[in-house]
Amino acid sequence: MTADTKTLAEWAVHERRYLHQYPELSGQEYQTAAHIRSRLQEWQLELLTCPAPSVVGLLRGTDGKKTIALRADIDALPVNEEGDKPYLSKHPGIAHVCGHDGHTAILLAAAKWLAEHRAEVAPNVLFLFQSSEEILPSGAQALVRHGVLEQVDAVFGLHLWKPLEKGKIGISNGAMMASSDDVRIVITGRGRHGSMPHETIDPIYVAGQVIAAVQGIVSRRINPVEPAVISICRLEAGTTYNIIPNQAVLYGTLRAQSEQTRQLLARELKQTVEALCAAWGANGEVVVDWGTPPVVNDERMSRYAAEVAVRQFGRESVAYVQPVMGGEDFSYYLQEKPGAFLFVGMGGENSKYPHHHPRFDLDEEAIPVGIELFVQLVKHFS
Ligand code: NI
Repeated sequence: MTADTKTLAEWAVHERRYLHQYPELSGQEYQTAAHIRSRLQEWQLELLTCPAPSVVGLLRGTDGKKTIALRADIDALPVNEEGDKPYLSKHPGIAHVCGHDGHTAILLAAAKWLAEHRAEVAPNVLFLFQSSEEILPSGAQALVRHGVLEQVDAVFGLHLWKPLEKGKIGISNGAMMASSDDVRIVITGRGRHGSMPHETIDPIYVAGQVIAAVQGIVSRRINPVEPAVISICRLEAGTTYNIIPNQAVLYGTLRAQSEQTRQLLARELKQTVEALCAAWGANGEVVVDWGTPPVVNDERMSRYAAEVAVRQFGRESVAYVQPVMGGEDFSYYLQEKPGAFLFVGMGGENSKYPHHHPRFDLDEEAIPVGIELFVQLVKHFS
């Protein structure tokens, strides 16, 4: 690391701790956005119009034939932070426990460095400080619909990642993260007294069968080499000990790593639920609330990112990772333009708790890695 990047890393850590103290929920990041805008203006970057509270900055390159976009998500979570660090959240019930404060600080630091060395920057660089990654409506989708990526040739994003060992850059040449869709299953029968089950169509009994049967979709209908998840996470039915209710409602999540499997899961789920309910005289309805698509890296761009990472950090630092079943709205950018989403490892003593845990903290030593990665992706881009 040069003296230059060491100073920049210190600046970024300071910035991150400030952002950490003033977290804002998805879609409400107006103070954070104002802070980002003032920084970008300070470095004479252009601010483009985009759906608030996201902020999009532009640095015009010396050659400007190509445009590369870098993205950071800026939202926090509805979690009461615990612990004793001096920079704990000052907003009760809201905390940066996914590391998006780190992502924002990394992208700000990269923008600062690139702005200060603009004579060395050939491509145009678009800085996407994106609102609302954690919940729908997705901030990424809003930016894409606004046409922010129209002139963009490639888009890159990163996540500081606790499950990956510190010092590693996690890359995949294809699927990196999963689609995430909510599903509600409404089973309507006919309720009566619990002592007369034969006079009822018991939706709880049918729900039990549905819960067991839908697991067969993953094991019997999906190709075993294709990752897929159906998890029923909430069951609502009945009021007391001895009344069979009219209705049972199940809530769950569907995950897949390709659009094809994603569609297949929803189709099979509908068919299984409807047929099983009909067999017992109940009515089964499946409502899919479509969420974010799978995050699938472009092969050429992930290879490019790997080359840059090898050159900068050494061959041993690049880890080809197994995709994870978590969701990420970076997928909307990748549906639109080639690019790659990367993990920056920070697993170890300094980051002990999982993402979204009230005591989650990021390892600030991973921050300079993220900055360097973004800067190098721009410098070598052609
Ligand atoms: Ni996150």
